[in-house]
Amino acid sequence: MFEVGENADGILAGVLFLIWLSAAILATRLAWRPTPEALRKSARRLLRLLVAALVVLVVKCVAIGLMLAVDWIFADNRVIVQMPLLLLPMLAVVIWTVPGLRALANRDDAPVDVETRSAAADPRFVVPVQVTAVATVIGVYFAYVSRPVPSYLDDIATHAAPILLSVLVLWFWQGRRLRVVTATDFARRGRRASALRATAQAAVVVLVVAAGITYVAQSSRLPDRMSMTSHDNVDYGGGPSIGHGGHGGTSVDELRGPQTGKPNKAFTLTAKNATVRLSSGTEIKALTYNGQSPGPELRVREGDLVEVTLHNEIPDENVTIHWHGLDVPNGEDGVAGATQNAVEPGGSFTYRFIAEQVGTFWYHTHQNPLEAIRRGLFGALIVEPRDGPPPGERDFVVQAHEWRTPDDNIVSFGTSDTLQRQEVAPGTPVRLRLINTDNNPSTDSRPRALTVNGTPVRVAAIDGVDVNGPTPLTDPRFGLATGGRYDVTFTMPAGPVRLTDLANRDGGLVLAPPGDTSTPKIVDDGDHFDPLSYGSGGSRPFDAGSSYDRSFTQLLDDRLSFYNGGLHLVPIINGHSFPDTPTLMVRMDDVVKVRIVNRSHQNHPMHLHGHHALVLSRNGVRATGSPWWIDSLDVIPGEIYEIGFKADNPGLWMDHCHNLDHAANGMVMHLAYEGVTSPYELGRGTPNQPE
Ligand code: C2O
Ligand code: CU
Repeated sequence: MFEVGENADGILAGVLFLIWLSAAILATRLAWRPTPEALRKSARRLLRLLVAALVVLVVKCVAIGLMLAVDWIFADNRVIVQMPLLLLPMLAVVIWTVPGLRALANRDDAPVDVETRSAAADPRFVVPVQVTAVATVIGVYFAYVSRPVPSYLDDIATHAAPILLSVLVLWFWQGRRLRVVTATDFARRGRRASALRATAQAAVVVLVVAAGITYVAQSSRLPDRMSMTSHDNVDYGGGPSIGHGGHGGTSVDELRGPQTGKPNKAFTLTAKNATVRLSSGTEIKALTYNGQSPGPELRVREGDLVEVTLHNEIPDENVTIHWHGLDVPNGEDGVAGATQNAVEPGGSFTYRFIAEQVGTFWYHTHQNPLEAIRRGLFGALIVEPRDGPPPGERDFVVQAHEWRTPDDNIVSFGTSDTLQRQEVAPGTPVRLRLINTDNNPSTDSRPRALTVNGTPVRVAAIDGVDVNGPTPLTDPRFGLATGGRYDVTFTMPAGPVRLTDLANRDGGLVLAPPGDTSTPKIVDDGDHFDPLSYGSGGSRPFDAGSSYDRSFTQLLDDRLSFYNGGLHLVPIINGHSFPDTPTLMVRMDDVVKVRIVNRSHQNHPMHLHGHHALVLSRNGVRATGSPWWIDSLDVIPGEIYEIGFKADNPGLWMDHCHNLDHAANGMVMHLAYEGVTSPYELGRGTPNQPE
């Protein structure tokens, strides 16, 4: 409902503009109509336009009502900022223009005399229409470009200023036109001169606008160096003000895993260029760990001390490794420019951490990730329980990815972009570890949709946390957030089971008993899996009604604007792009609530590093069922999530949208602990480009 309202509202802003532009042109020319008949006709046309504008306005109110029905926050800026600025000039039209206009529309055939012309050119009669046209331009600007966020006071000022200015300018201009149209030599004034002048004026306007755009584009360029701890925009979430700590604070370099002790598992990952061959035969010029993509599967046990040595042999790309979903110590988090310098060609970095969580995770570079993850710098990280996996269980790691070739986007599971078959004996316990290593499918703005057909399945874990009391789901449809994981389990039935990414219906994975060559049909209209009420039991350390040390709101919007020199639909958080987005400041042991509101046109899989958060509610509906712990949460337009987490992992943590094009366009913020500092910087002048 929000999206219908939002889209309608945007389109109607444009329609209103077109109507009022025509109305303003008609009104401005009215006094120049040569004959009584022409004048009458124009006046009637104008009246009809005003009626049309009124109808559109009513529809627009309905659209806004649709958004308000979801929640006040989805359209409060329209109620507070946009509508008053439209309605006030329209009211002036009703009061000052309409009566005179009706008189002109009903005028008889008497010749158009000076008195009539002066009535039709009177600023009080014409300017309200012109100003309303200006207000509708501001309305379009509001709908697509400015997207105000609370508290709205400065937005009222910036949106009202051009309208007030236009009143002055138009009043003055219309006064001059009034003198012209009532002058005695009016009929003899030449048209050529005014045409020339109009052209000159238009040229000046175009030049000024072009210069303005160039200036804005240039000034949106990010600085060459910036530090993640030097933001002006700090949010304390209603808790006490605290600082990064400056001198005497703890550096992220001190927040490392165990530096001594023999690792239980040691891996070496070497970043290198390689050609990856998909099952269809397509070759991808990939960036890889160890020459393969997905990179080697890292499988460890709960409690293991894990050591991963990263070497970089890619000549022209810096790399890191981030352990997505594993809440490692901050210094091991692998974020270029925040927790380390990116590893330059020829360099190395060693990560050491204890695998404390059991479940499905993945790793990827956090340097230039939009390009580099897409091109292959990722792999699966599996932490098995201390005592090993359930006996006899077969587990299949499925990394839903999308490869880009110059002329195609190829949706695959790992390197399999064609249908794969595996033999599994009936009765075998099966676990599918689904990982979304890519954005939304390029064909859709919704999260990647996967189906499992052939047998009822359970969701045993979400984002590396076990679900309590999972119930069987028949032909479920999973919307898997970017970066998110679902562990899906079932006992192998007597017939085949099929896993499909709906963005590639010719691909997928079929598990079949030996000798069975059949393939189940794809069922794509099954129930959408909703973790909000799935499962039962388990305890919640806090819920929607608990009291929190800090409460933050993340208001996700988007607007057409420049970011780093380019024009994009820029996603914004609380009105800003990185580095102006708020930094959430917390203190160790704070219990924190975050309210995420998506008012934008796209879905945003928000990913907080270093913590798992508990979903408390969605659009006011409390989470029931098994506690739903997340590290990657897809928030679609019109949704409000409340999540809670305990601040128990000190550091400087990324909190960003995992649709990596959004992150690259500034949809990035940080969670910072009191007293934690970072010596690293990011930007063109450094080796680090974390997004
Ligand atoms: Cu999977 Cu900040 O990343
Ligand atoms: Cu996003």
